[in-house]
Amino acid sequence: SQRRQVDETLLPLRLSGEQLLLVKKRMRGALEAGLKSKGPSAVKMLPSYVYQTPDGTEHGKYLALGLGGTNFRALLVDLKKGLLQNSRLNHKIYPTPVEIMQGSGEELFDHIAQCVGDFLDYMGMKSARLPAGFTFSFPCEQAGIDTGTLVSWTKRFKATDCEGHNVVGMLREAIKRRNEFDLDIVSVVNDTVGTMMSCACEDPQCEIGLIAGTGTNVCYMEELKNIEKIEQEKGQMEREGEEKQDDGAEREKKEEHAGIPKMCINTEWGGLGDDGFLDDIITHYDSEVDQNSLNPGKQRFEKLISGMYLGEVVRQVLLNLTRGGLLFRGQVTEALKTPGIFHTKYLSQIESDRLALLQVRSVLQQLGLDSTCDDSIIVKEVCGAVSHRAAQLCGAGLAAVVDKIRENRGLDHLDITVGVDGSLYKLHPHFSGVLQQTVKMLAPQCTVSFLPSEGGSGTGAALTAAVARKKLEK
Ligand code: BG6
Ligand code: GLC
Repeated sequence: SQRRQVDETLLPLRLSGEQLLLVKKRMRGALEAGLKSKGPSAVKMLPSYVYQTPDGTEHGKYLALGLGGTNFRALLVDLKKGLLQNSRLNHKIYPTPVEIMQGSGEELFDHIAQCVGDFLDYMGMKSARLPAGFTFSFPCEQAGIDTGTLVSWTKRFKATDCEGHNVVGMLREAIKRRNEFDLDIVSVVNDTVGTMMSCACEDPQCEIGLIAGTGTNVCYMEELKNIEKIEQEKGQMEREGEEKQDDGAEREKKEEHAGIPKMCINTEWGGLGDDGFLDDIITHYDSEVDQNSLNPGKQRFEKLISGMYLGEVVRQVLLNLTRGGLLFRGQVTEALKTPGIFHTKYLSQIESDRLALLQVRSVLQQLGLDSTCDDSIIVKEVCGAVSHRAAQLCGAGLAAVVDKIRENRGLDHLDITVGVDGSLYKLHPHFSGVLQQTVKMLAPQCTVSFLPSEGGSGTGAALTAAVARKKLEK
């Protein structure tokens, strides 16, 4: 029957508790491997040179810049007495055209410099030479807080001559070429790090940053002694840490961990499976999505989870059902053949519990898909299966991270907060719930709270710049 055939089609997308536990284990293994290896590893575990979360004494005016999803963001932040003073007026969003994302590196950075120029004009601050924090939401190999070499583009970006280059240097050069204003770029951070920093301002228990948006990624505070690949700094920091610990021998375990030298690690967990480690859960639909992407074979975990790919997985399943005559009267239309039609926004609408089937049909109609009532039921089911799997996998990954932190500290029980951002987390009606439920199931010894970021990672970049500055002043 039709029902049975639809169920069979969706079966490979349903994961058992055992499979999720396996994913957690593999993530854990990949985290450990990445901390050790200086060479390439699927999960890159990139040191961020952020040694602490903000303590609330950060102050000053900063320009926060961010490139990562589809937009470039500029924001003027005033950090005062621990309060983030923001208003909607001091920020502007510039869409990044596809030609720029996939053109030359010089064009991309010229575009950014142009946006910054426009923003400074708008704020009337072109002559100020402000300190700036740069949120750059791609994997960077860092040797300090103010320098980062792009390892590889991900998501929708593919600008030439950037991989292997220092992105801060490229931004500085573009600003010089423009010759209109000057900036003091103090820090470059991943969006996960920016998110963690901005959330840590509100909640000191926040030591993890999670993005579930166009892409997906996590950062967390790791003990320096475990980061085997950065030997040199370690020695020095550990000595400083020991001195600090000596004067507080009586302190309780919880406080003790505050004295232990740490560094935030940008895991780049989206790369899990790039070594074939997820092949047993990757379906035929996922392989199609991967093959049609800008980076085949790369970011396999991300392609199972994040907003940019979920709609594509859904489309592959719908194509399959339609070809099998189970959907849309067997008619494969141009609309259905169009990559990228199912934006996170539409998936979220289709899965909304409040939406009657008639409205689901009208969403599909907007996308150019003529559906019957039966069709709309099946489409909703497909979207549900794909997003449920995504949230569960994200939860399995996160369970590995929180358990690692718990074990680092030798605790039976850990309370921790995750700072979160991204359109999938914020817009989708079920993603966050399933994610939380999965973490609870797979990491029962941890109580994990989720704190959605409000100022976005831009404020976090400014805070990082402020923390870095304070350290210099000491
Ligand atoms: C934003 C952050 O709010 O969320 C960005 O400020 C981040 O730094 C973004 O990259 C991620 O979400 P999305 O959905 O835009 O990819
Ligand atoms: C991609 C990027 C990563 C970023 C994430 C979320 O996975 O590689 O750096 O944090 O998307 O934006």
